[in-house]
Amino acid sequence: MSRFAPPPPHPSGATVPALDRDAIPRHLALVMDGNGRWANDRGLPRTEGHREGERALMEVVAGAIDLGIPYVSAYAFSTENWKRSPAEVAFLMNFTGDVMSRQLPTFKEWGIKVRWAGRRPRLWKSVINRLETAERETQDNDVITLTMCVNYGGRAEIADAAVAMARDVQEGRLMPGSITEDMVQRYLDEPQLPDVDLFLRSSGEQRLSNFMLWQSAYAEMMFLDILWPDMDRRVLWRAVEDYAHRNRRYGGAMDQMAPATRE
Ligand code: IPE
Ligand code: IPE
Ligand code: MG
Repeated sequence: MSRFAPPPPHPSGATVPALDRDAIPRHLALVMDGNGRWANDRGLPRTEGHREGERALMEVVAGAIDLGIPYVSAYAFSTENWKRSPAEVAFLMNFTGDVMSRQLPTFKEWGIKVRWAGRRPRLWKSVINRLETAERETQDNDVITLTMCVNYGGRAEIADAAVAMARDVQEGRLMPGSITEDMVQRYLDEPQLPDVDLFLRSSGEQRLSNFMLWQSAYAEMMFLDILWPDMDRRVLWRAVEDYAHRNRRYGGAMDQMAPATRE
């Protein structure tokens, strides 16, 4: 018996699709995009879209738990998002910290282990504190790992790993000849994160926007024409059913000849 409660079922009564265990992604990367457009479409300021996005995140995490996905990484604030208006940046800083506090009881109830990936410099201290509190208070949970990517950038992560490796080489702890792909992985923000299997972006934009560059080398990409605040777990389940039918080859190839046609 798990000491954690399962998320409440979806209000529609929809149930999780039956899929083989090996058809379930191990690591789902989420680019939660389209909050501003969702709000502006309704004559509301962009910030109202971010508020709605909180519900969508918890809904999608519920759907991931229902499916048995072990790792979800959610892009909440990129290293490029500092370019936004000071008012939106301030809102997102306060809001991200508040989400971490507000959802902490649910993280504990559902067995969510929270991790933070991202750069420390520039990020508001209040946000770091609340991310680290959530990390500490959920460290023994084992239903799912939710990595909150805040002040995260894929290039920043790789560049920071390069700096740390260079330092270790200089100090004699690392031999240049021993730097393999696995070794680079160990210097990333969250070394234990497996490769991304399913990279899901909402809002219709078809780009990575600097998310999980190293981890997504062989991810299946899915771009959904739905704005993030409109997401719910049923959309995730459909995406995973689609993913389950993809043929992942990782560079390999096999004959799959059509039957020979007669003259
Ligand atoms: C994603 O929604 C949330 C963050 C980047 C924090 P956006 O704010 O990018 O919304 P759009 O893409 O402008 O609609
Ligand atoms: C990516 O969305 C970042 C997050 C979802 C946090 P953006 O809205 O910032 O990306 P671009 O500007 O469309 O590439
Ligand atoms: Mg956007």
